[in-house]
Amino acid sequence: MTAMSSMGPTPPAAAAAAAAAAKVAAGRHIVGYADPLVVSAGDRVCVQVSCQRPRYTSSLVRLGPSMEAKDAPPPDHQAISSVPETTYPGRPQFTRLGSFASVPWFVGAYSTPASDLALAVSFWARPDLPERAGHDQFFFSTLQRDGGAGFASFIDRDGALTLAVGSERGRLTTQLPITLKRHSWTFLTFTFNAPSRTVAVSARSKESHVDSAHSQHASHVLTHPFVLSSSQSLTIASHSSQDRVSAVPVDSTSFNGRIDSFRIDLVAAADTRTVLHLDFSKDIPTDHLRDISDSACHGSLFNCPARAVTGHDWDASETDWTRASYGYGAIHFHDDDVDDAAWATDFELVLPKDLASGFYGFVINDGESEDIVPFFIRPDLTQPPTNKVVFIVPTFTYTAYANDRMYDTSRDVHIDIPGSDSVHRGRHLRILEARPDLGISLYDSHNDGSGATHSSTKRVVLNMRPDYFHWGFGGPRELSADLWFIGFLDRELGPGNYDVITDHDISCYGSSILLRYSIAISGSHPEYPTYKMLDAYDAFLAAGGFFMYLGGNGYYWVTGHDHERPHRIEVRRADQGCRVFGLPPGHWFLALTGEQGGLWRSRGRNPNRICGLGSDACGMGQGAPYGIVPEARQNPKLEFLFKGHGLEKNDIIGDFGLVQGAASGDEIDRLDYSLGTPENAVIIATTKLAGGHSDNYALFNEEILFPMVNTLGTTSDKVRSDLVYFETGSGGAVFGVGSINWVGSLAWKNYENNVAQITANVLHEFVKSSSMDEKRDAKRY
Ligand SMILES: [Fe+2]
Repeated sequence: MTAMSSMGPTPPAAAAAAAAAAKVAAGRHIVGYADPLVVSAGDRVCVQVSCQRPRYTSSLVRLGPSMEAKDAPPPDHQAISSVPETTYPGRPQFTRLGSFASVPWFVGAYSTPASDLALAVSFWARPDLPERAGHDQFFFSTLQRDGGAGFASFIDRDGALTLAVGSERGRLTTQLPITLKRHSWTFLTFTFNAPSRTVAVSARSKESHVDSAHSQHASHVLTHPFVLSSSQSLTIASHSSQDRVSAVPVDSTSFNGRIDSFRIDLVAAADTRTVLHLDFSKDIPTDHLRDISDSACHGSLFNCPARAVTGHDWDASETDWTRASYGYGAIHFHDDDVDDAAWATDFELVLPKDLASGFYGFVINDGESEDIVPFFIRPDLTQPPTNKVVFIVPTFTYTAYANDRMYDTSRDVHIDIPGSDSVHRGRHLRILEARPDLGISLYDSHNDGSGATHSSTKRVVLNMRPDYFHWGFGGPRELSADLWFIGFLDRELGPGNYDVITDHDISCYGSSILLRYSIAISGSHPEYPTYKMLDAYDAFLAAGGFFMYLGGNGYYWVTGHDHERPHRIEVRRADQGCRVFGLPPGHWFLALTGEQGGLWRSRGRNPNRICGLGSDACGMGQGAPYGIVPEARQNPKLEFLFKGHGLEKNDIIGDFGLVQGAASGDEIDRLDYSLGTPENAVIIATTKLAGGHSDNYALFNEEILFPMVNTLGTTSDKVRSDLVYFETGSGGAVFGVGSINWVGSLAWKNYENNVAQITANVLHEFVKSSSMDEKRDAKRY
């Protein structure tokens, strides 16, 4: 079977119609992303925009609370007048999803006459979606755009193994009757023999203890001569390294599955020599590919396929790739990977040097729709600190949840939590559904069913928006919720009288950035620290710092952060933890750092040690208030807590709120001495003294041991949020709340409530205590 076409993966009519339908469904929205995400005043920020109208305006604002609702603080974005509103031309931008490798290898580099040329491309392959990808999945390609030269192989959209070569008549394609089994390793050899006009494939399945190796072979003689020597360099797992962005939606051409031991042999007359041999087990933490042949033709990866995954020869004798001498020579490519959306920059701005640290956004408006493109300004680290208080934006949590699609029950991985009646379909969700090219989160599986291990902010992240409503909770979450802390701090300390830094900053600068401050305040959901960040928190506490942990599910997953590509984080969901998928054995060690992934609890760095609390449960539906513990009222050290808004007498805290109706909800944490909470920590209040949670709340699996009963809100003593307090030996102290939704109650009635009051009491007490401790300050600087 031979057919001719002009070029590459030309979509058939059905796919073109689907693409057009997707474009219509997307509506005429405007979206964009800023890069870098975290900067200092005076730095340059580049903004990439997709706009379906001829022009749009951009203006800069400092972000504050955004939710428009009864009982919520009024929206408060401050215009930055030193940056005038500017109009730019609009253009749509769509990313071609999918990871691939680019290798600067040209067959023309060898002296063999083209007419004598024959070559063999061989590798192990483990297809994970050999039939239903909906597009061509390329194993490799050197095909020229004009179809005049080159060679390629792909699984076509119908699942047929296809070879393609370039010729004077354009691209020639041949389908060969080779069957590839899903999730099975097969050694493939593709032969392209120009003198004999023959293309061939041999496939040998991997032998196992129950199955002998099975071989298939097929070949075809083409009616026309073909030309192997191409001006196009080699691309692995996609059709080309070009055309990454388009004005209309475009299909991925990436392979779904693993490739191992990629090699090209040149066959000329009696001489056969290996001219490319990529050893994917080398340089695993990087995007670099090493050619171990004499050609030394090293390549690069794009869109971050998964490395540190098991290869064809993995035998479970070693589960840690850093210790293995074999078994980790594979790379897992996916057709929905996106590490860098690669949109063209629409405008860039050198930020005024006088901007205070904080949450900022470019308001882009095309007359029909508006988006706010967020970014963060850290303080000038070359200057001595002027503020004692710092708020830490959990940007790694924003990155981990970026564009999560767990609401979509048609996906392999999704959630349907009791108490969640329906999916709240806000504007951001509708755009997300219309834009698969924005990619997936660390909570989603890839199209081939494997779990995601990397996420990036070098793309539009729709749930990192000031007006974002979570699809399950029906209220702000992540950035949109954390902006309520900004309103609170503006009110309590005044704008400019506290600093804002991010997870990215602590990951990069370590303890030195935290040690600039006396009081550190967490965001509502600081789930993803790196090892270096935990060290920084330890150092901060050891130096007498005061810490306010005002969230839930804190410091939970082992996280890797790529300092060379700071937009990228890596998380490996291992054998326990509140997770929607688990990675297979052998995939639990991070490619970036070689660390064991999973829970910090499994690594012996429980969050309890720094914030007194550890995650225990989560749920949707109605939340729960806290009840003050009688002993806490008797404790003279805690006297400062119970002042104002009826705290002197009222034992119930937070029986109201803007998310789930109470201060404890979403993901929640409790005190547990056996898990590392310091022995001097005390419970100020607990949800168990205020009715507790319903059975919509269930214990995390790492909390459940035999007998596996009494695991729900009404039946388990462990399902609860605790307010905790402890002092450190170096003169500091820690206050922890153990609930993502604490902030939703803090902001209720414009911060006029007992949750805001007790939080303010802690903040001002810490400010007062830290000013009295000059000894500690001397130690800090
Ligand atoms: Fe979480």
